[in-house]
Amino acid sequence: MAKELLDKPILVLDGGLGTTLEDEHGIKFSFKTPLWSSHLLIENTSTLRKVQQDFASAGADIILTATYQSSFDGFENTKMSNKDDDSIGLEEARKYMLSAVDLAREAFVGRPGLVALSLGAYGATMIPSTEYSGAYGPMNGDDLFKFHMDRISTFQDNQKAWQEIDLVAFETLPRIDEVRAVVNVMQTTANKPYWISCVFPNDDRCLPDGTTIDELIESLLLPPKGGARHHHQPWAIGINCTKIHKISKLINAFENTSKRSSLDLPRLVLYPDGAGNQVYDTKLQQWVGDNSDQKPWDLQMADIIQEVTQRGAWKGIVVGGCCKTTPYHIQQLRKRVDALK
Ligand SMILES: *[C@@H]1O[C@H](CO)[C@@H](O)[C@H](O)[C@H]1NC(C)=O
Ligand SMILES: *[C@@H]1O[C@H](CO)[C@@H](O)[C@H](O)[C@H]1NC(C)=O
Ligand SMILES: *[C@@H]1O[C@H](CO)[C@@H](O)[C@H](O)[C@H]1NC(C)=O
Repeated sequence: MAKELLDKPILVLDGGLGTTLEDEHGIKFSFKTPLWSSHLLIENTSTLRKVQQDFASAGADIILTATYQSSFDGFENTKMSNKDDDSIGLEEARKYMLSAVDLAREAFVGRPGLVALSLGAYGATMIPSTEYSGAYGPMNGDDLFKFHMDRISTFQDNQKAWQEIDLVAFETLPRIDEVRAVVNVMQTTANKPYWISCVFPNDDRCLPDGTTIDELIESLLLPPKGGARHHHQPWAIGINCTKIHKISKLINAFENTSKRSSLDLPRLVLYPDGAGNQVYDTKLQQWVGDNSDQKPWDLQMADIIQEVTQRGAWKGIVVGGCCKTTPYHIQQLRKRVDALK
């Protein structure tokens, strides 16, 4: 059964969907495609299917649905390449979002595998995207709760899709009010494991909104204020799309905090980018900078996995890649993980 996979000590996740679509399949994203990878749910489904299958056959245990940037506004603002009238309404948007679940499941072509529902930060749905800065304009915690609740309801309300979803992945959260909003949303769905990943784009060890790691860990792991009787803790917490050289220190900081506040850590989810020294310029919408990487990505990842498992502070570890990691990277990572056993 796929669900038993959830207990494996090391799980491999897929890689960067959007960048693989661009770099290996000639897909071009622009202001006309505010849904980014989710646009492929509308057009070019076969290309999406191919990439997700490539990740699964490279050895990923978990495939994320192509819904990271999905939002009802995004569907409404989408320009189709073959017609320039009608925008995509609520019902149709829901249908496309739900189709992502089947596509992710089909990537395993019958093998056991886990489907994680990918739900990006609110900022990932803005143009240009602001999940690295957390600059959300007038949005407050209540608005963020409503945004996340509305979107996840699309999946919860469809029994068949909800059953296919093994995990919910809230990704790239840059703000503490959004972390709290998401934890609150998940208190209403007691039985679905979920993870929360955050971004640390700055040099100091804090979220883009200035939240310290101490405060972050407490918000992630302690019951929310006035909270539920049955606290539904994240199945995993971690780091998305952050430079790989920063990862070790961040994990250490997480572990130190948990020791100081006597909080048991759940699993660690880790998917740094594969861009080496390059950074993404949201205004130019391209990768800039010199890329003279010293050590292959999968070797750097293997070192981190080894350190983490040796210290034994986490219940398990989920590893994969985001931007600029391809099926090839995941295949190499799979080999490293299998060699550790
Ligand atoms: C995506 O689909 C559109 C419309 O069907 C087509 O014009 C375009 O060539 C496709 N792009 C790729 C890269 O497959
Ligand atoms: C974590 O704690 C250890 C031991 O006290 C210390 O050496 C290390 O610098 C700390 N690391 C971070 C990132 O806080
Ligand atoms: C976070 O991870 C997801 C899944 O790999 C990816 O689609 C997304 O682009 C990442 N976030 C950023 C800011 O790159």
